[in-house]
Amino acid sequence: MPTLTIDGRTVRVRDGASLLVAAQSAGIDIPTLCHHPALEPWGGCRLCLVEVTKDTWRTAPRLVASCMYPAENGLIVRSATERVRAARRVVLDLLLARCPETPLVQRLARDHGIERTSYQVSAEPTNCILCGLCTRTCDHIGVSAIASISRGAGREIAPPFREPPPACVGCLACAEICPTGHIRYDTNDRTRTIWGRTFDMVRCRTCGRASITRAQAAREIERHGVPAADVELCDACKRRQTAATFASLQAAEGVL
Ligand code: SF4
Ligand code: FES
Repeated sequence: MPTLTIDGRTVRVRDGASLLVAAQSAGIDIPTLCHHPALEPWGGCRLCLVEVTKDTWRTAPRLVASCMYPAENGLIVRSATERVRAARRVVLDLLLARCPETPLVQRLARDHGIERTSYQVSAEPTNCILCGLCTRTCDHIGVSAIASISRGAGREIAPPFREPPPACVGCLACAEICPTGHIRYDTNDRTRTIWGRTFDMVRCRTCGRASITRAQAAREIERHGVPAADVELCDACKRRQTAATFASLQAAEGVL
């Protein structure tokens, strides 16, 4: 277990943990945009920069992305020096030019002393901060229906050729992980529409509420071997059924 110093505090973390995880375990807040604990670190947004050095290093402290850099024995980390904050300000200044109306970006920029971007504001403001969480989640679950397309200021998240993606199953994982609410969808008890595709919903056989799309249910059954009866129950009814089973087992044990 490596032992290191973060902002003057001694921190011990599990082997292989990143500096970000080490800082979080010590209650030290480092801003992030592209990090999610359920996904592999990506290092795309550069907002989580920190300064690192060691007593044995003869070079100046280095700026590294804390979500990618492994916690090492003897490392001295500073998460809020003026150099770190200046580097984060550049990231946020640029992001504010792309996403001037996005509350998350506005808040982070304000926290770093930026009220207005010093760059030219995009002629087509967007809420997409290009954090990649949606595409990486979609890849992570093995669907890969969307991708980052185009370059420069025109970069965006979309299905290939901007066509309704055949691989999409309408699970909403991309929309739910998006930190800015950029991914639009419409869902009701009968249908769900996302990325230009409309899916029929499976209705819970107990309460009648919509649970998942038929396409997602078919995938769960085929790829993951989930029993067909399970996909016909919504999460709330599944929880109720599990609780009822547990209670009856406990009652039976009490009787024995
Ligand atoms: S759509 Fe949302 S999750 Fe995807 S890259 Fe843009 S901001 Fe991130
Ligand atoms: S959170 Fe580390 S680079 Fe985005």
